[in-house]
Amino acid sequence: MSILVTGGAGFIGSHTCVELLNAGYDPIILDNLCNSKSESVKRIKEITGKDVKFYKCDIRDREGLDKVFAENKIDAVIHFAGLKCVPESISNPLEYYDNNIGGSVVLCEAMAAAGCKKIVFSSSATVYGSENPSPLKEDMPEGKTTNPYGTTKLYIERILKDTCASDSEWSACLLRYFNPIGAHKSGRIGEDPNGIPNNLVPYITQVAIGKLDHLNVNGDDYPTPDGTGVRDYIHVVDLALGHLKAVEKVLGENGCFTYNLGTGNGYSVLEVVKAFEKACGKPVKYVIAPRRPGDIATCYSDPSKAKEELGWEAVRGIDEMCEDSWRWQSQNPDGYGD
Ligand code: NAD
Ligand code: WQD
Repeated sequence: MSILVTGGAGFIGSHTCVELLNAGYDPIILDNLCNSKSESVKRIKEITGKDVKFYKCDIRDREGLDKVFAENKIDAVIHFAGLKCVPESISNPLEYYDNNIGGSVVLCEAMAAAGCKKIVFSSSATVYGSENPSPLKEDMPEGKTTNPYGTTKLYIERILKDTCASDSEWSACLLRYFNPIGAHKSGRIGEDPNGIPNNLVPYITQVAIGKLDHLNVNGDDYPTPDGTGVRDYIHVVDLALGHLKAVEKVLGENGCFTYNLGTGNGYSVLEVVKAFEKACGKPVKYVIAPRRPGDIATCYSDPSKAKEELGWEAVRGIDEMCEDSWRWQSQNPDGYGD
């Protein structure tokens, strides 16, 4: 089975390609490398000992996509490609709407033209907005998104729902990820952010390796047990394995399906700091800073629907997530390099 993986050179995409190869699938990576390096593709091959086709191509490039579909018999698409930086989306919304929404529309058009109507889409817990209480369930109303990045995810979900409703040959799995962290056990692939990280764990790893002086804990006055924000961190390998189940789902049944991919457990910022200190064997310096605008106090999933319908659940805990993030960071202090 050939699976086109858009954004396959990125953090979650690279881990998913490893698991696809291990399971006997034939992933084909399509990525414009705007937020990744071709080195990750080399390392996917190194880890698995298998070859992977790679196309440097933008999802907005219809001719490029048509060529990929013409050269390969693709059974399904896992669609990771997109821009994901929340503050950047606030300062440059048009770039986000063009890349994420425009790109998804072009991709679906190319898929339909090629007769491949099976897609697994990277959505986000951000579509629940700020009003729904945790644990978040798939049948809750979508919330008011708090930034253009989140709005792109909400609109792409709607576009895929409408597309499935318009043509019964389509099948889509909308996967709402919670907070992916960790890395492959080999320490050869992991998250490689450009510049100063926005997300908690990449920031902590750079403090631990000595690239950043200290972590700013964004608020300790939330209505949570220790006052810091609570999130549902999920190991990227568990997340990757969820995609294999979702691929089986879209290959086996038509329609549009929505699943949370989370653990169902919430950890506070200070609990993550503690788990990370245990993993790296040294203290992580932090100071309490003001709240970050747009943040909510608590966000964690009810993961039961994915367990019941896909037979998937996350099994890796917070200690393993931190150990694997640290192995990646300490073995690759400069990520994939230049
Ligand atoms: P990432 O930036 O590491 O991977 C995305 C990949 O898409 C990159 O390799 C980038 O070069 C590529 N890309 C971007 N725009 C493209 C385009 N127009 N054409 C071709 N390739 C393009 O990010 P990630 O963390 O692996 O996230 C993957 C997906 O999951 C994204 O859609 C993201 O929004 C979504 N998601 C991520 C998180 C998270 O916290 N990491 C949470 C929820 C959802
Ligand atoms: C986690 C917690 C922060 C950095 C974001 C996106 C979301 C999704 C995942 C893609 C919060 C606190 C953080 C720091 C801190 N992405 N924090 N100091 O905000 O839950 O989700 O990534 O879909 O859409 O919004 O993740 O890792 O940024 O923050 O105290 O330097 O850590 O306030 O409580 P978030 P995060």
